[in-house]
Amino acid sequence: MRAKPDANWAKWAERWEAQQQRFWPRREQRFQIMLDLVEEIVGPEPGRILDLACGPGSMSRRVMKRFPGAQLVALDVDPVLMEIGRRALGNGGGRLQWVGADLRTPTWPEQIRALAPFDAALTSSALHWLDAGEIVHVYRVLSELVRPGGAVLNAEHLMVARPAGRLAGVAKALRQRIDAGEPFEGETSAAWWEAARAEPQFAPLFAERDTVFSEGNPRRHVFLTSSFHEEALSNAGFSEAAVVWRFLEDAVVCAIR
Ligand SMILES: C[S@@+](CC[C@H](N)C(=O)[O-])C[C@H]1O[C@@H](n2cnc3c(N)ncnc32)[C@H](O)[C@@H]1O
Repeated sequence: MRAKPDANWAKWAERWEAQQQRFWPRREQRFQIMLDLVEEIVGPEPGRILDLACGPGSMSRRVMKRFPGAQLVALDVDPVLMEIGRRALGNGGGRLQWVGADLRTPTWPEQIRALAPFDAALTSSALHWLDAGEIVHVYRVLSELVRPGGAVLNAEHLMVARPAGRLAGVAKALRQRIDAGEPFEGETSAAWWEAARAEPQFAPLFAERDTVFSEGNPRRHVFLTSSFHEEALSNAGFSEAAVVWRFLEDAVVCAIR
């Protein structure tokens, strides 16, 4: 189902960027580091890149700008965010393909296998929507879809240590205190979602979304340690996996296939 074409799609995408930046104050730096790493690992002209759990295509937009020759596959389960991305970015002049798929299902790899191999798979602020078993499965699939020598990069909040000890809590509290001190005017993520839900033209998309997230939205978020991600990537067949950037819990894990 598609919303009517007269919503101000670019504006909704801009508002998404602004509220995400507020929620993740180092988001832009993280994107920059991820793109720099792609260039270092894959080379200055990557061919195919997968934007996993793409939302409205925040990563894809930056990748297309940075690497004018790259082809993008943007995958997500949320019909609202995907439609905003589709309407705001279109098909990127033939370089961007949108795929609606749920990473919790066993079938999502088949939806993009024909578009592989990828030089890199990138994901930001998203994998905490999956539990440990689902993440292990995603990394196994990525080890098949990313070419040897290619990269996987995941940026999100990752616990610095196991929750049983003090360090995880200390790092989280400190990060939250620092983030709360960053002056930021503007819309929160919750206010963005409230405004989007109130937009009459999005009604059919939200009806679809409520079916997708039938167990509740936001789904219970799972925060795992960065060590868990490193180990899961190594076990999935990546030759190396390490945290390459970190600000307390805010981290980028990078793996080389
Ligand atoms: C906070 S948003 C981040 C979006 C984008 N990567 C960004 O940085 O702006 C989290 C994204 O994960 C997606 N997501 C959550 N669970 C998913 C699943 N099971 N399959 C695919 N995408 C999922 C959501 O739909 C949402 O677009």
